[in-house]
Amino acid sequence: MKILILNGPNLNLLGKREPGIYGSASAEDIFNELKQLHPSVTFTYFQSNVEGELVNKLHEVGFDYDGIVFNAGAYTHTSIAIADAVAGIKTPVIEVHISNVYAREEYRHKSLMAKNCAGIITGFGMKSYALAVHHLLSK
Ligand code: DQA
Repeated sequence: MKILILNGPNLNLLGKREPGIYGSASAEDIFNELKQLHPSVTFTYFQSNVEGELVNKLHEVGFDYDGIVFNAGAYTHTSIAIADAVAGIKTPVIEVHISNVYAREEYRHKSLMAKNCAGIITGFGMKSYALAVHHLLSK
């Protein structure tokens, strides 16, 4: 079982960035916890602040991996290119957000990629990633 944890812009700053919203754990903490919870799963982690690099990564793993847990950050709300890439691959993508985007600014209420995803998990802090993995493993 191969799962990609994919993080978009500004998520390299997790642990330092607006901790009141995003908590104090780093991306590395999340990744290590997932590996500990599911030692039999092969997890890969990739983060980029660059839209095209996220598209390239979706293309690279999207015909081979069993699942992609994707926090596209602000690109969720703006990127047609990422939404199209999610639609164009075979691997199921789960959209995740650390914060509850529906409790925040209105511009965060719209996801361009959501309709191309298997589902959405939003608002459970770092647990959002683990919940998405849980779904992929229960399939
Ligand atoms: C986010 C929510 C987005 O609106 C925001 O731009 C982010 C993080 C979240 O995980 O809560 O960068 O995806």
